[in-house]
Amino acid sequence: MAMPDNPTVIGTPRQRVDGKAKVTGAAIYAADVKTDGIANAYLIQSTLASGRVIEIDQSQAEKMPGVFAILTQRNAPKLQPLPEELSANGLPGESRLPFQDDRVYYQGQHLGVVIAETFEQARDAAASVRVRYQPGELRTDLEGFAQQAIEPRLALGRIKLQDKRGDVDWVWANMPQDRLVDAVYSTPIENHNPIEPGAALAIWEDQDHLTLHVSTRGVDLTQRVLAAAFGLLIQNVRVICPFIGGHFGSKGFSWSYFIVAAAAARLINRPVRLVLTRSQMFDSMGQRARTVQSFGLAADETGKLAALKHSTLTHSSMVYQYTEPAGALTRLLYACPNIQINHRLVQLNYTTPCPMRAPGEAPGIFALESAMDELAIKLNLDPLELRLRNHADKDDSEQKPWSSKHLKECYDHGASKFGWSSRNPHPASARDKDGRLVGWGMATAIYPARQEPAAARITLANDGSVVVQSATHEAGTGTYTAMTQFVSENLGVPMEQVRFELGDTQFPHAPVNGGSFLTASVAPAVTAACNNLRDKLISLALDGPAAPFTGVARGDLVLADGRISTQKKSLPPMALADVLSKTNNQQLVAEGEAGPGDAYQKFAFYSFGAVFVEVRVDPDFGEVRVARVVGVYDVGKIINPMLARSQLLGGITFGIGMALMEGTIPDIPTGRIVNSNLSEYHVPVSTDVPPEFTIEFLDIPDPNMADSGARGLGEIGIVGTPAAVANAIYHATGKRIRDLPITPDKLVGV
Ligand code: MOS
Repeated sequence: MAMPDNPTVIGTPRQRVDGKAKVTGAAIYAADVKTDGIANAYLIQSTLASGRVIEIDQSQAEKMPGVFAILTQRNAPKLQPLPEELSANGLPGESRLPFQDDRVYYQGQHLGVVIAETFEQARDAAASVRVRYQPGELRTDLEGFAQQAIEPRLALGRIKLQDKRGDVDWVWANMPQDRLVDAVYSTPIENHNPIEPGAALAIWEDQDHLTLHVSTRGVDLTQRVLAAAFGLLIQNVRVICPFIGGHFGSKGFSWSYFIVAAAAARLINRPVRLVLTRSQMFDSMGQRARTVQSFGLAADETGKLAALKHSTLTHSSMVYQYTEPAGALTRLLYACPNIQINHRLVQLNYTTPCPMRAPGEAPGIFALESAMDELAIKLNLDPLELRLRNHADKDDSEQKPWSSKHLKECYDHGASKFGWSSRNPHPASARDKDGRLVGWGMATAIYPARQEPAAARITLANDGSVVVQSATHEAGTGTYTAMTQFVSENLGVPMEQVRFELGDTQFPHAPVNGGSFLTASVAPAVTAACNNLRDKLISLALDGPAAPFTGVARGDLVLADGRISTQKKSLPPMALADVLSKTNNQQLVAEGEAGPGDAYQKFAFYSFGAVFVEVRVDPDFGEVRVARVVGVYDVGKIINPMLARSQLLGGITFGIGMALMEGTIPDIPTGRIVNSNLSEYHVPVSTDVPPEFTIEFLDIPDPNMADSGARGLGEIGIVGTPAAVANAIYHATGKRIRDLPITPDKLVGV
């Protein structure tokens, strides 16, 4: 679809249309929904990581105040196994359904639920439940079980996990040691910690009709999971989620807790609310698995990569095979004729992992970009120069041209903004006035761009209001605002006249919002709906006995400022609403849909960036502060600079957290999580955000992306940042830390 002639809304900074509702508390999140007779549920979880349940003693809990019922395997409904398209290994989520057998696969597994009047009553009663177990073999040590690893073919149903080109082994055997990097990088288990935890309110109208208010970025997917599990007609399940309080990459998939809420509500024939606690966010809704990544880089005498091998050891749960695809982009980020990518997966007694922001890319590019820094030092080359020498002019993994790539401009702009050329290459060569070591590091960022099929419906009413609906989501990324901009732009109506509605299975289909593809997927559908409405409106204006613009050529009508007009002096402009009234229409409805076109076969679509970081390291205490970040990004067209900046602020901050603090600590002898709380699992807070934070966008539309040329920017901020921080720490201290997070204990006394 062509863009309008005079774009005025797309590409301009706009305040969030839902901002006021959010900051005033008017925005309704899943746990806020009020309806009559809500009961509250609290999960009974396994305290053992492997074995069988012998007995659940709930005798005391049943007698406690406010308790309505307790649901366990004993009285659970028989659920239907999820169909292949919802359960195939590699797709995110957990297909094992709750309370169907007595097996225990991880600590925190849901064994039952107490349903009571209040949350506190349910929680107290759940605490009094005693479970007897038959312990089973415990598998918690990733390296210890490495020899039992499998080599899965695909991640997320589409990302190749085993790949090679050329002959890595020959190069490796014949390359001098001083041009090799051979190192192991590791990243810990990480847990999603959005402000809003998982939350669900299940309401059955009757035995066949279920409504679920749930915090999800996949209303349509959740609907399919529930319909399948409970054997309901898909149209009899409604899933609603107008706001998400963040997801960090979780909340899109099948999880036990919302199925439990639905089963509990059916059992007691009342609406049931189930809200996860912060601690339960560590075992009930996925996590990023630990990775141990062996990296080999070899360069020729000109500094060009000759061979690259990347082998990832990671884990999934005992009930599901999800693989963190850490090596996915190693295949193509740099030009290199000989590449070997491998992933090995061990099934352990931990909760099922799933995507966390930039799944695969965040840990994988940490390893690659750390290894590149090590190689630059070995070759006595500037790290940026090494990257320029190995710039990939096409996607060698698929032998496709890039759709649009301006990475070199990102390097250039970033380096000059940062002042990179004045960097002293010697580590531990600079101190600030407080005696802290100063270091500079950089890394490349990359993230795939995609478009998924989506649809939208638009309704123009005779009061002039425009309502657009799509079953997409608002996770804080700005969907309401960006889509309102598209409607405003395409129909020539002020943004204030437009209301965008989302997060409801009754709206036209939209994908799970993930992979940073929401805008590129949903905006083209919205534009298509707008264009269809415009056609219908113009027909009303031109044809029929009451048509106000009879006789005017179709191409001479213009929609702008909420009005339809023509050059003809004799015909004054008319408000869109009046066109409806004059032609006796209450409203006008149009639908639109869009999906990936041929370009997706021809080109490789990626966003790129360059991130430069300055750290200060306290030499006595090992404390690292990120003092300065410059990130320059080539993400296609920028729809709204305010929203875009906000996404990168969040993404880079996430990357800083990954570099310096995030890490879930399992107790290997028991499989329990030691730090399932925010006082011991650290995420960056405002004081961790660097005082100098420069984010720039090249803002070059991708000519092959649908509609607007936006490639998406939700996740690229986290990619590269952890390595840039680690590289800066090396530069500051001379100490190479290859194991995230880089906590003070690893640096103390540098
Ligand atoms: Mo991304 S893990 O799809 O939010």
